[in-house]
Amino acid sequence: MKIAFFDTKPYDIPAFDRYGAEAGIEFKYYETKLNPDTVDLARGFDGVCVFVNDSVTAPVIDRLAEMGVGYVALRCAGFNNVDMAHAHGRLHVFRVPAYSPYAVAEHAMALLLTSVRRIHKAYIRTKDFNFSLNGLTGFDLHGKTVGIIGTGRIGRVFGDICRGFGMKVLAYDKFPAPGFADGENVRYTTTDELFAKSDIISLHCPLTEETYHLIGKENLEKCKTGVVIINTSRGALVDAEALLAAIKSRKVGGACLDVYEEESDLFFRDFSGHILEDDTLARLISMPNVIVTSHQAFLTEEALDNIAATTVGNLAAFRDKGQCPNELCYYPTGAADCKNGKCF
Ligand code: NAI
Repeated sequence: MKIAFFDTKPYDIPAFDRYGAEAGIEFKYYETKLNPDTVDLARGFDGVCVFVNDSVTAPVIDRLAEMGVGYVALRCAGFNNVDMAHAHGRLHVFRVPAYSPYAVAEHAMALLLTSVRRIHKAYIRTKDFNFSLNGLTGFDLHGKTVGIIGTGRIGRVFGDICRGFGMKVLAYDKFPAPGFADGENVRYTTTDELFAKSDIISLHCPLTEETYHLIGKENLEKCKTGVVIINTSRGALVDAEALLAAIKSRKVGGACLDVYEEESDLFFRDFSGHILEDDTLARLISMPNVIVTSHQAFLTEEALDNIAATTVGNLAAFRDKGQCPNELCYYPTGAADCKNGKCF
């Protein structure tokens, strides 16, 4: 089985080579992202392996199908970059539903601690032998209220970490997780109460039409003054312009962003020495109370190993059995009409 691997980074290759060799799957690594201009690189392959910023749009799907490429192996959990309705009946799409919720939840907490204890400022100062503490006053997390939107695998781990810090958790999820609320320090509520009472808000829901710009002007106005916003989920959950305005007006006291709406042309690449064209991102990064990491939350050894193992397992399952439990399916006229019973 031969797979064209798009948007390759050096840290992807060792685990994919190892698991691929064991399963008899050969990867051809391309640095470029998959998009209508690059899709022909997949000619002659059985499938493509893609990440969060590859564009699996309708024209790309049509071209892959025309060339006889049968599989789209997402090496991530989110699939908002795939036109799932168009893929139905043309290609098999599968993903890695979970690879390390701890990686993302721990990164969210790392960003929060860095922000509230001004570690990013202190690190630079002491590197320059500046041992002054002026301006570095933080606040205790103990006793604060954190609002968690999306209590799936990652949101719940983040909630457990926050509980360990002695924080109160207000949670919102369209489908609350049984057993997560404890009747004492963790309870489900409405988004309005969550916005009104949280000192910190962390986003762990997927990007959908419903959650697009969830953190926008209107909801930011409902928040406490000084609220800290954490986004390790998907960039477009946050309206970056509205966030910037709320930081300037001092409504938002801190922002920790691992994702950004317009990240696809920027993140994962080195632009040092270049002039950044994105004024909103440049202004956000210039703020002393904003920390940006470039979609790094997943990047642990454990997660990379799990991603490769599951992706190779998905491909081998299709090759050997013609199906795999991690297939995604979206039937245009609704799940009830879907013949393979996997539709969401
Ligand atoms: P999950 O599927 O286990 O949990 C998502 C939760 O969001 C579910 O409980 C679901 O009911 C809830 N949800 C769905 N629609 C909602 C809505 N409208 N409002 C509130 N809640 C809603 O997903 P998981 O594994 O916890 O991942 C969460 C997100 O984290 C993913 O969607 C992905 O975008 C992001 N992610 C980011 C990574 C990074 O490196 N920064 C790595 C992995 C995931």
